Amino acid sequence: MPPSPSRPRRLDQLLSACGYCSRREAKGWVKQGWVTVDGLAAESPDQKVDPARVQVEGEPLDHPDGLLVLFHKPVGTICTHEDEEGPTIYGLLPERWRHRNPPVSSVGRLDKDASGLLVLTDDGALVQKWTAPRHHVPKLYEVELDRDPLPEWVAIFASGTFLMPGESKPCAPAKLELVGPKRARLELTEGRFHQVKRMFAGLGAVVQTLHRSRFGPYELGDLAPGSWKVVSDLPATME
Ligand code: URA
Repeated sequence: MPPSPSRPRRLDQLLSACGYCSRREAKGWVKQGWVTVDGLAAESPDQKVDPARVQVEGEPLDHPDGLLVLFHKPVGTICTHEDEEGPTIYGLLPERWRHRNPPVSSVGRLDKDASGLLVLTDDGALVQKWTAPRHHVPKLYEVELDRDPLPEWVAIFASGTFLMPGESKPCAPAKLELVGPKRARLELTEGRFHQVKRMFAGLGAVVQTLHRSRFGPYELGDLAPGSWKVVSDLPATME
């Protein structure tokens, strides 16, 4: 995660931020002797502590300086915190991460029927930054279409003048690669609503499957659907 050196913090705030318990409950955790600082029982929930020196039930704190996670979203999951429209990606994460404060959120979203790489973090400023249009974070999508893509589509998407159906603002230049029968790869630097599907729809093609294999400098690689990997360093290109 972003290299923020551990700074002294109130113990109850720290336990709540990392998803162990609420600030109110922290009092009980300290009283029970579940929390130690430098191996000695913590004295009070409002004592200032260096996060690196705190343990809960003998274990170091779970990423006290923040989380940055690469996650393979499986088809059929939704990128919201409420599960009204199906199982959420958050239900596949460790229980404690779901209680972190600030909450763990995805940087942008993928549709329910899409799969692939999502970047998740509890750093709200980072989410804002990487979703801001001016940052032009490149995202790579592998698509399967209902027809063969045509070579002339490459120039159309690259032109910077292509209009999606119902839009008056042209799409930023996008890189299309024809991969094989009914298959293409599209790199976008924007993240408009259903953009990949709507761009192909504008050319008369229906996206049948959609998978994101890259987000900025991060590759999905061999991460299995539903699994994740914690990133420890923030690449310079994303700062
Ligand atoms: N474009 C889409 O149409 N859907 C996604 O999930 C992502 C990009």
